[in-house]
Amino acid sequence: MSKLRGNPEAFEGLTSVMSLAQMRSVVRAEEKKIALWSGAVSAGKTFVSLWAFLMAIMEAPKGGNIIIVGRTLDTVYTNVFVLLQNPEIFGELTKYVSYTRGAKTATILGRTVFLYGANDASSETKIRGSTVGLAYVDEVTILPEGFWDMLMTRLRVAGARVLATTNPGSKNHWLRKKWILKAEKKNLIHFPFTMDDNPSLKPGYIADMKAQFAGVFYDRFIRGLWTNAEGAVYNSWDEKKHMIRWQDMPPIARVLALGADYGTTNTTAALLLGITAEERPRLVLMDEWSYSSKKHHGHTLSDAQLSARLLEWLDGTEHSPHGQVIPEMLILDPSAASLRAQLAESGRNTWPAHNRVDKGIALVASLLSAGVLLITDRCEGVLEEITEYSWDPKATEAGEDKVEKVDDHFMDAMRYAIYTTRSTWLPYLRYALAA
Ligand SMILES: Nc1ncnc2c1ncn2[C@@H]1O[C@H](COP(=O)(O)OP(=O)(O)OP(=O)(O)O)[C@@H](O)[C@H]1O
Ligand SMILES: [Mg+2]
Repeated sequence: MSKLRGNPEAFEGLTSVMSLAQMRSVVRAEEKKIALWSGAVSAGKTFVSLWAFLMAIMEAPKGGNIIIVGRTLDTVYTNVFVLLQNPEIFGELTKYVSYTRGAKTATILGRTVFLYGANDASSETKIRGSTVGLAYVDEVTILPEGFWDMLMTRLRVAGARVLATTNPGSKNHWLRKKWILKAEKKNLIHFPFTMDDNPSLKPGYIADMKAQFAGVFYDRFIRGLWTNAEGAVYNSWDEKKHMIRWQDMPPIARVLALGADYGTTNTTAALLLGITAEERPRLVLMDEWSYSSKKHHGHTLSDAQLSARLLEWLDGTEHSPHGQVIPEMLILDPSAASLRAQLAESGRNTWPAHNRVDKGIALVASLLSAGVLLITDRCEGVLEEITEYSWDPKATEAGEDKVEKVDDHFMDAMRYAIYTTRSTWLPYLRYALAA
């Protein structure tokens, strides 16, 4: 630290200049014990809060630990350290940041920093008993409330502080109701940000981002508002725009995946996801298979039978009017371990689906809103569910985003196929989504 102060070159070579709102927030953050930046994506919240964090590290009380908290160590790496170690942003200061991806500690400005992932209710035990002098918290709204509450009890040295960023959530979210709305009492200062507060965004970028989000996600991630998720999840669904006849399917460049949701008494639903060979490629849900015991007088199938029937359909049916189709990946419900094992026995390699419900839904919603997801009339289950798929008003009351527990097997299969393969298809769809 003293090394840094006596070394003015550390501040040289920086290309970043803060906006007024950013600068003001760095200064004012010091007024309160807790500083919270909330708002739109790419609004510069992480950037500016990390500046505030670096400054706070220099002043942090010696009697407590410095910690960084995120959903997982991996998200801490991608959301925090990628920025912190970028010399274009932090210049020579990056030399004072030493971290190896996956490690549980880092060294920043000569101080040891402890890293925590807090993704379930039991995570709070990780910091129980410790004393925290300074905490940086990433994505607060998706951390368990119990972890946040536990963190507050750990700030028991004089001068202990918390800096946190998040995208907004529902109006009833605990962070809004119990902390933001009671800011004065809680010794908290809140900075709401939008993309206009980030001076580095190139012209056109904001417009591109706007095209990526729809409905409640637009209000939260673009407008930076705390809003409830209500009504239909895919409210931009339009049969005329999104549904095509199977025989009218455009030529397919790649069949990206078979995505499947697994049930024993519930429906097992499988969908084929392709990407068109058009100049402006689109995603297509090409074909669908399912088995439901309810539709067979309660008769359930063993994993071996399910696997055999699924493969018989996959290998033995024409899924595209343009010729043979072999999916590049078989993506299965992460809880379908037994079916995965069965498919492995048949020589089929499968992948567990990435199951981030919120992110998966947001991605599908944005594809629909951009008009780049087509669904053929063979996907009857999808067509049946997509209009019924709704946010649960009870969960909304509790400040959570949950979909109503009705039949959603095809919705899950769709999400698995699309979200898990996103890094493969995003480059083709950048023209529409600009991620
Ligand atoms: N003043 C600035 N000068 C240069 N680059 C900036 C500035 N503010 C933000 N940026 C850059 O803009 C990008 C988006 O900013 P940042 O990651 O802080 O946004 P965010 O609000 O945390 O978004 P998200 O909600 O998506 O996490 C980053 O690459 C960041 O380095
Ligand atoms: Mg951020």
